[in-house]
Amino acid sequence: QKTWRVAVLPGDGIGPEVVAQATRALEALAARDDELAIECTTFEWPSHAWHERHGESAPADYLDQLAAFDAILLGALGDPGPTSDPDRYLLSDAVSLAPLLEIRKGFDQWCCERPCRPLPGANQYLADPRAADIDMLVIRENSEGEYVNQGGRLAVGTPHEIATQVALFTHRATERIIRHAFEQARVRAHHRASDGRAREFGREARASQVCLVTKRNAQRYWGDMYTEIFARVAADYPDVDTHHELVDAACMKFVSHPWMFDVVVASNLHGDILTDLAAVLNGGMGVSPSSNINASDRSRPPMFEPTHGSAPDIAGRNLAGPAAMLLTTAMMLDWMGVEDPAAARAAERLRTAVSADLAAHGGEARATDAIGDAVIGAL
Ligand code: IPM
Ligand code: MN
Repeated sequence: QKTWRVAVLPGDGIGPEVVAQATRALEALAARDDELAIECTTFEWPSHAWHERHGESAPADYLDQLAAFDAILLGALGDPGPTSDPDRYLLSDAVSLAPLLEIRKGFDQWCCERPCRPLPGANQYLADPRAADIDMLVIRENSEGEYVNQGGRLAVGTPHEIATQVALFTHRATERIIRHAFEQARVRAHHRASDGRAREFGREARASQVCLVTKRNAQRYWGDMYTEIFARVAADYPDVDTHHELVDAACMKFVSHPWMFDVVVASNLHGDILTDLAAVLNGGMGVSPSSNINASDRSRPPMFEPTHGSAPDIAGRNLAGPAAMLLTTAMMLDWMGVEDPAAARAAERLRTAVSADLAAHGGEARATDAIGDAVIGAL
């Protein structure tokens, strides 16, 4: 039996409050299943508090320390500080945010998955009843693209100032994220078929679909490369329907008929933006989970963190909804479940308990720990 070693990083703001519910849930799951063994080690870093004390948001060797774990469970990062504007979440202002991108890069967590499937009882922002049928998975390229942060500023502060911001796309990263999207489309079709929820896409009525998002009409170099690689990979998946949207049109369709999508694959920045939109379709940030995985090397620790941030405006008040964090924990258990049937069972149990709680209480205002109590009671 494998003992999973998890590095728990509560972080800033509401992070510690929601993470506390996640670790309680993991304990409860292990208590009811002898075959599940998870050992959590909590670190105070990265966080703003650590920065105040040590002048850095994490110890210098923090990536080495994290490398010893099977997985990382993160609450939220970013504290604007008492004097700065709480609406500013720039990497340079919220010092504790920087390790977030460093961890993604350091462990080559090249794949970010953000499922969008509203649970009954969650806020429904769309009036159309078909919104209940939304079931898509947004797969975000998580290692390069618009996030390489190369460039610079010339003639700073003058009327002649120029800023450049390079976006970099490699064949290798593009191929692996697109192939992963097709693989996931197959897995999803398989699950739907066994749950009796089969769907049909395209004129050929295929069981699954991958939609590629680019801005090829304005940004042709990477747009063309993505499109060509997409076509080549698609040839290996004749059972999967393919579709291409420009990112602006994709935003519109996420609102006008999101139930048409299955798997959506997008660049780092496009994926970032689309998944905030998709979070609203889920019922909000409070119920939207997320993962950062090295899908080609399971020895590199993945990081599981909700899509939401540290919400400093409600921090420390027992007001934050823990559902996103609990569903994120279920995604971690899914990842473990590939090797460990006990973890796979635990993922299902946790998701069922969170959904039952949402279905029973919907949008009622309840305390963070009260929701935790109810979910853990059901486990
Ligand atoms: C996210 C966040 C981060 C991102 C920020 C905090 C750098 O928005 O996880 O989606 O852009 O990736
Ligand atoms: Mn984001």
